[in-house]
Amino acid sequence: MVAVEKTVRLTIVGFGHVGGGVAEVVMRKHQALKEIYGLDLRIVGIADLKGVTINEKGLSEPEIAKFRAGDESVLAYGMSTEDMIKEVEHELMVEATPTNVVDGEPGVTHIVTALESGRHVVTSNKGPLALHYRRLMELAERRGRELRFEATVGGAMPLISMIRNNLAGNRVISIKGILNGTCNYILTRMGEENLPYEHVLREAQEIGIAESDPTKDVEGVDTAVKLVILANTVFDMDATYRDVKVRGITDITPDALKLAHDAGYAIKLIGDVDHEGRLEVAPRLVPLRDPLNVNGTLNVATIRTDLAGDITVIGKGAGPIEAASAILSDIIGIYAR
Ligand SMILES: NC(=O)c1ccc[n+]([C@@H]2O[C@H](COP(=O)([O-])OP(=O)(O)OC[C@H]3O[C@@H](n4cnc5c(N)ncnc54)[C@H](OP(=O)(O)O)[C@@H]3O)[C@@H](O)[C@H]2O)c1
Repeated sequence: MVAVEKTVRLTIVGFGHVGGGVAEVVMRKHQALKEIYGLDLRIVGIADLKGVTINEKGLSEPEIAKFRAGDESVLAYGMSTEDMIKEVEHELMVEATPTNVVDGEPGVTHIVTALESGRHVVTSNKGPLALHYRRLMELAERRGRELRFEATVGGAMPLISMIRNNLAGNRVISIKGILNGTCNYILTRMGEENLPYEHVLREAQEIGIAESDPTKDVEGVDTAVKLVILANTVFDMDATYRDVKVRGITDITPDALKLAHDAGYAIKLIGDVDHEGRLEVAPRLVPLRDPLNVNGTLNVATIRTDLAGDITVIGKGAGPIEAASAILSDIIGIYAR
């Protein structure tokens, strides 16, 4: 049992799949987090495009359910998202608004406002990190606050924290992997069923694995953005996603997959970053027995290091609870040292 208990007040900005997942996980784990880490996590504010809801003592499950259902009785009238970040007393903001790789907004404004108001920030939003990594990290440092973002790369896979914590002392030589579950699903189904790209894409859209506009996934942009976040955090580059050489999966045919398979390979959309500045996303031949050859929506990354050799992590790259798992572990990492 942990003797000292610390109350940490959270706000959640962006209350879609991930924001909702964070609220669910914080509620579900509340007692366990108190017992194991001495952390009493309370959600004191939530904002999305509908508005803002606040309760300085901590929002209850029924209040959160009402906000989610669009019940206007729980809205704080006249309060904007930025007002909430600045004015509501809290220690940490979770930012989970949509990824925008053109200018990073609205995430950049939320993150800057929170850091300048003295809040720690944990985010799943890739845009701000892929475009303004150095500026945001410098701001966090100047303000003596943390900016953590494990959920931005590989969802539940503990890549960034594993490299920083468990592989400390190693020099990372390269990171190579499948960082987009939608592309992996499409290539897996095309290969297994000998079906054309358009057919499998439609099927993936019908079952909710691909978005109605799948461009960012299938053209490799999402993988490139994640690669940039790894490049900046692990290799201390100052890259943006425009620096990545990108080719997607739209011209892969079932025949190409079959030819590759007959020769002992799978074709996978691989993101590749190394210590010499290589930043590339492209379909690659992967030996069938290679640990990178994972199927369906799974993500995988092999980290090549000087001391530990190759370490491969496989896991679920997306999903509200999976992303919330990474966000929760970032929150605990800030307080439970
Ligand atoms: N889904 C995943 O599995 C996953 C995994 C890892 C990372 N991510 C990243 O996490 C982020 C959130 O993903 P998601 O799937 O939860 O997206 P989502 O379901 O579309 O939710 C986005 C939320 O942000 C809100 N929002 C948009 N603009 C806003 C603004 N200006 N102020 C306040 N709220 C605003 C939306 O409000 P309305 O509902 O009112 O429109 C919605 O609640 C994205 O950046 C995504 O790339 C997602």
